[in-house]
Amino acid sequence: MIKNVVITGGTGLVGKALTNLLLSNGYEVFVLTRNQKQATQKNNYSFWDVENEIIDEQIIKTADYIVHLAGDGIADKRWTSSRKISILESRTKPLELIFKVLKNNSNQLKALISASGVGYYGAITSDKVFIEEDVAASDFLGKTCVAWEKEVDKFNELGIRTVKLRTGIVLAKEGGVLPKMTLPFKYSFGSVLGSGKQYMPWISLTDLCQAYLFAIENNQLFGAYNTAVEDDTNNASFSKSVARVLNKRIFLPNVPTFVLKILLGEMAGIILNGSRVSNSKIKAEGFQFLHEDLDKCLEQELVE
Ligand SMILES: NC(=O)c1ccc[n+]([C@@H]2O[C@H](COP(=O)([O-])OP(=O)(O)OC[C@H]3O[C@@H](n4cnc5c(N)ncnc54)[C@H](OP(=O)(O)O)[C@@H]3O)[C@@H](O)[C@H]2O)c1
Repeated sequence: MIKNVVITGGTGLVGKALTNLLLSNGYEVFVLTRNQKQATQKNNYSFWDVENEIIDEQIIKTADYIVHLAGDGIADKRWTSSRKISILESRTKPLELIFKVLKNNSNQLKALISASGVGYYGAITSDKVFIEEDVAASDFLGKTCVAWEKEVDKFNELGIRTVKLRTGIVLAKEGGVLPKMTLPFKYSFGSVLGSGKQYMPWISLTDLCQAYLFAIENNQLFGAYNTAVEDDTNNASFSKSVARVLNKRIFLPNVPTFVLKILLGEMAGIILNGSRVSNSKIKAEGFQFLHEDLDKCLEQELVE
């Protein structure tokens, strides 16, 4: 029988690519979106309004798998106090609503797979390679990831298998941070940010979508998994790779830390800091990354 997957936030960068991958693997996909127009126009789109608890309960009750990707863009706007609440609640409240639908209903849900982020470990630059058992950071993103994952874990009470993919920076030509980061390089204005020593755990969009499919199809996966390439990429080496792939040179000095802090406020922390994460846990389950070489990945995403 055809299995169906409900994707919250399925209209975004990861969601669109994952939808295509799932369809090509024989799954039926339903996307939950706040966009009423798209929901009316597209067959497999369903409107929801989390605040007003509007959701197609039937879709949820008959879902085989739910992938939770919905959430306000973390680096889209300055982190004012109201923006911080939106970043947090746009990830936790949808899960609360889905939990409510499933709580008192028999359902066939086999697993809930949710996005999380390597921000769980904190905006710090250190030589530590973080593993899934490490304690979460107490900064804003650390606390957000803890609250987000806690809502995911609640589904275990309903006997539902849960998986949390702590994801690094997703590299894709279609969107996300890569086109924004590489634009200045295209015009020869690119430069290293801050000290350049901050690590940048990254993953190709292709590999991330494969990781979601892997988590759906492998029942033994449970709990948190780091989904990022484990290498030494830091902002300086990333910038050099981008420049090399685009056949450009870096002429300008590093963008000073204080400038980024003035421009971005607290959010500058996630650009100026970063640590490596281990991906041994997901690899031990049998997951294989297609892209582990940054230059080759950038060649595909920036040139081809
Ligand atoms: N991209 C990355 O580099 C990266 C790295 C680590 C973790 N992640 C996490 O992975 C998930 C997917 O990332 P993505 O890059 O695909 O994100 P994205 O392109 O920004 O898409 C997220 C989707 O979530 C929905 N959404 C936004 N705000 C919402 C709200 N307040 N309530 C309900 N839905 C809302 C939107 O769909 P509608 O407008 O159609 O409702 C949007 O298309 C996110 O949770 C993100 O934090 C991403």
